[in-house]
Amino acid sequence: MCGIVGYIGDKNAYPILIKGLQRLEYRGYDSAGIAIHNSSLKTFKKKGKVNELETFVADKDTRGYIGIGHTRWATHGEPGNANAHPHTSMNGNFVLAHNGIIENYAELKEDLLKKGFVFQTETDTEVLVNLIEYFYNLNEVNNAELAVRLALSKVVGAYGIVILCKNEKDRIIAAKMGSPLVIGIGQGEYFLASDAGPIVEYTNSVIYLNDGNVAIIGKNSLTLKTIGNAPVNFKITKIDLSIGDIEKGDFDHYMLKEIFEQPKTIQDTYRGRIKPEQKDIVLGGLLDVFPKIVQAKRIIIIGCGTSWHAALLAEYLIEEYARVPVEVEYASEFRYRKPIINPGDVIIAVSQSGETADTLAAIKMAKKQGALILGICNIVGSSIARETDAGVYTHAGTEIGVASTKAFTAQVTVLSLFAFKLAKARGQIDQEFYEMLINEMLDIPDKVQTILLRNSNIKKVAEKYKDAVNALYLGRGYLFPVALEGALKLKEISYMHAEGYAAGEMKHGPIALVDDNLPVIVVSAKDGYYEKVLNNIQEVKARKGNIIAVVTESNNKLRNMADDIFEVPESHPAVAALLTVIPLQLFAYYIAVMRECNIDQPRNLAKSVTVE
Ligand code: G6P
Repeated sequence: MCGIVGYIGDKNAYPILIKGLQRLEYRGYDSAGIAIHNSSLKTFKKKGKVNELETFVADKDTRGYIGIGHTRWATHGEPGNANAHPHTSMNGNFVLAHNGIIENYAELKEDLLKKGFVFQTETDTEVLVNLIEYFYNLNEVNNAELAVRLALSKVVGAYGIVILCKNEKDRIIAAKMGSPLVIGIGQGEYFLASDAGPIVEYTNSVIYLNDGNVAIIGKNSLTLKTIGNAPVNFKITKIDLSIGDIEKGDFDHYMLKEIFEQPKTIQDTYRGRIKPEQKDIVLGGLLDVFPKIVQAKRIIIIGCGTSWHAALLAEYLIEEYARVPVEVEYASEFRYRKPIINPGDVIIAVSQSGETADTLAAIKMAKKQGALILGICNIVGSSIARETDAGVYTHAGTEIGVASTKAFTAQVTVLSLFAFKLAKARGQIDQEFYEMLINEMLDIPDKVQTILLRNSNIKKVAEKYKDAVNALYLGRGYLFPVALEGALKLKEISYMHAEGYAAGEMKHGPIALVDDNLPVIVVSAKDGYYEKVLNNIQEVKARKGNIIAVVTESNNKLRNMADDIFEVPESHPAVAALLTVIPLQLFAYYIAVMRECNIDQPRNLAKSVTVE
């Protein structure tokens, strides 16, 4: 949440900062601001999206070779011009942009108030920038870096920060605790950003800061140290990201682009892991720990949002095929509810961003209790990826639309491969069945392509239901998590109230909602639940609900009962989620377009939730 950028070098900082903020806008878009150092510190801030800041700044003097910027997702203080970052210290010596939350800001503020500091905003960040100024003004300090380190030694909370000091015009100071921060290394220039996206068009050499790192960055120098002033060695990582990966191309929205990328991203995710010659699955990132996983007494999978849905699906797969008990937990619950973690438990964290604060905190807690921690992340080098003992990257590429699509199918792909491999290694399935599952997976990209080619039909159905007030999604077995995910997509981007339910639970509440205005989206496959789902549909029909059914090509019974259908190719039930979710993504997308919603940046949401 919130994106921060910084630049120091020979180029004008402003265009680099604005472009960087646009690339980070998925992290928050309530307000944006930049500060430029050019003999004096100049700050420009504006409520709203980055392009509103751009318009506001158009006739201003933004020259300068050093600058920082911020795009905000409000935590403390409403979104507005004053609360926008960067924040300036009382006497104007420092400006600071911050991603995270200073938890003890209230007590720090009280102390500073007693010392005569005056505050303009309700933000925790203004407290931090004034605390830095307080230390700076002490006679024995008068040094920006030392003031920052002294201030940070008093802070409890999470931060990625970039700071400019009026009297030190040749440097940016940055620090990280909990919130991500990447430094890009150019020729006589450095870039800073919350992720590598804004950096990739300038350099592919980056340093991912670790918690507790403070960076002092000049045009030609970079020093990393701890808050306590001990030197820190850094590792330069080469990133494999191209500018095409982060641009929209001919698509109207990133979300649509990402939906249409799925045949490729699913393939990218299994490529090199499914070995068709050997008829085997090899998860390289887990090789060292796999014997331990095979012996696991229990697997606990944690995640948030869409990642939690992928985790739930994995529970069904692993329990059915590998016969290992699985628990699926919301990271936000798991981290606080004092769960029992036994030796022999394996914890899997699922996270697209690899930065979700609750998931990160949950694995840190489980690690302390001695569990083996695995990560399934999309962002290479992310905090969760680095915190885990081993893991598998999803290779979905950069996902920019706030509503997750290709990252979900990539997570499901990895978790399915994991379940199939584990089932085989534990002797629960034979080679023939294993090979059948592998072949089913290999066929998925072409089948997804077939569904995508039918998108005009999905658009037509969306037109019919775009004005509905509520929607109900039903599924059973592997398709229950798909129903949850379909409902989440719709509410995230179209603001239509939608609920996902296990179809068998419908009688225990949601059936009260059914009338002739309610679209009921039924996700089914010809699996063991098929007849039961047909019964559930009869119950909806008897109450005049409108049925939209996701059906397979030969599924005539269901086809005849439904008002509208989304057709998907036949598949084995174990991989059906990867197909049935696609029309639901498109349905949500088209409804949101027709309701004129902001598809890629839905209100109040952020892609990477780095605060709890
Ligand atoms: C936010 C995003 C969701 C995402 C969830 C978990 O709510 O808007 O799309 O599923 O965070 O994020 P993660 O990066 O951990 O998968």
